Amino acid sequence: METEIFDGGSQQDIEKAAKILKSGGLVAIPTETVYGLAADALNSDAVAKIFKAKGRPMDNPLIVHISRFEEIYRLVKGVPHKAKELADRYWPGPMTIILPKSDIIPDEVSAGLPTVAVRMPSHPVARAIIEKTGRPLAAPSANSSGLPSPTTARHVMDDMNGKIEAIVDGGPCDVGIESTVVTLATDPPRLLRPGGITHEQLEDVLGHVDIDPAVLSQLKEGERPASPGMKYKHYSPKAEVYIVNGSLPSFKYQIDCDLHEGDAALCFDGEENELPVPCLSFGRKDNSLEQAHSLFDDLRKFDDMGIKRVFVRAPSAEGVGLGVYNRLLRAAAFKIIEPPIIYGLTGQSGAGKTTVGNELKKKGYLIVDGDLLARKAVEIPEVLNALVAEFGKEIFDSDGKLIRSELAKRAFANEHKRQRLNKITHPAITKLTLETIKNNFTSEHKGVIIDAAAIFDCDLPKYCTKMIVVTADEDIRAERIMKRDCIDRETAMLRINAQKNEQYYIERADIVIRNNGNESLSDQLNEL
Ligand code: TXA
Ligand code: MG
Repeated sequence: METEIFDGGSQQDIEKAAKILKSGGLVAIPTETVYGLAADALNSDAVAKIFKAKGRPMDNPLIVHISRFEEIYRLVKGVPHKAKELADRYWPGPMTIILPKSDIIPDEVSAGLPTVAVRMPSHPVARAIIEKTGRPLAAPSANSSGLPSPTTARHVMDDMNGKIEAIVDGGPCDVGIESTVVTLATDPPRLLRPGGITHEQLEDVLGHVDIDPAVLSQLKEGERPASPGMKYKHYSPKAEVYIVNGSLPSFKYQIDCDLHEGDAALCFDGEENELPVPCLSFGRKDNSLEQAHSLFDDLRKFDDMGIKRVFVRAPSAEGVGLGVYNRLLRAAAFKIIEPPIIYGLTGQSGAGKTTVGNELKKKGYLIVDGDLLARKAVEIPEVLNALVAEFGKEIFDSDGKLIRSELAKRAFANEHKRQRLNKITHPAITKLTLETIKNNFTSEHKGVIIDAAAIFDCDLPKYCTKMIVVTADEDIRAERIMKRDCIDRETAMLRINAQKNEQYYIERADIVIRNNGNESLSDQLNEL
């Protein structure tokens, strides 16, 4: 069969769509949530075709769409006051109400359940088509079962071409995720699927509304969900999806520590250029409506791009965000990653980073010695080769051992040389640091501390959620350096003056720890 594309803005096309529906055919229609695959809800043969076209399991019931409230009376056994109030507040709109069904609902629609789901969409094209057809329309999302729901006519075409009579193009869907499903067939009412009408909005009208456990957790083997649709792996692109909890720096760590060909990220606005993989943004971090709007479109785009793994910044699960999070959980088949939270620890020489590091170790953090890794980095053969090419073979002694002082002399001769050194060593330092964290961090650890004097000169701050800077008064630092390195005050002061000043560090700090020896470090670190 050839699938025709109709124009939702054309009265003629709406009439053509209605005609197909009246004669028992299938037409995909735009709604404000997602595109629906519609058939005459009272014609069981037509309804059966929906299941075939979608490859939908027969035990998953359909939503019946109406264009006027009065239509509900013949579809259900009775309309409780609460249902009327809900409809008054949120219909037409992205909310589906479940009630005990009347006898005119075919078993195919309710999948054998004693209840039926009813919704009055707000999309003018959907409403016009229901009106013109003069029948309630059964319509699941117009995707192939298991794939993300379609939010454009193009998505429907990708899944349904050749399987249905027509698609009515009404532009991209506004909400972007499917309607909120609430059942009034239980007491108290229960939220079965979160969507554009929030749990809070439901409770505003209904009082207490339970949230079905299947909304946020995985069903156990053989468990029967209140809403059959919740048991299927859903909304899944071909790519493997992973939800990554935590901050943007932790997200960067997660991506970089296990980078593969075919990886991509779904992130928030403004983060796209900060990651080393193809990125799509699904909206601003604090805007669940934007995220809902583009989620399914983005998931489909990753498949078009041939992506194999998608790492997703975990969205807020508040308000409409609960719907976004619920869809992502299913797209990810509940795979959630908790990367470590990483802090940078630095400060001037003699300020006592190591003392603070020890305190943090006692508190349960994994301490990574960045200065040690920086020394190790220049022992890696590829790094050595690049250093020789840049600075000459004189940086080795007769035994082929690196003379660090000779390298330093050449590399710090001028700014250009210093930059060349960094270009060669920094990627290696980053790689060693990521490996060290990956191999040593366990769930027992509270987080990771990268302890490195020159942390602000390298790439590591991008993985750090916060920067801890340790400071101490100058004469105290001088004393400590004299004692530690057995040198006189003059030499110690030369070293101190050769370093960046305290201001430099404080400007880049999120947390400043005073360490003159008379303050409680533990108290100051409680902020973490
Ligand atoms: O926004 C939407 O609701 C879209 C548009 C097209 O209206 N439709 C949609 O339909 O998402 P569908 O079939 O993809 O999802 C319907 C969900 C399924 O999870 C199904 O199990 C549940 O509603 N459902 C339908 N009837 C039910 C019933 N009687 N009891 C419990 N759950 C029901
Ligand atoms: Mg669906």
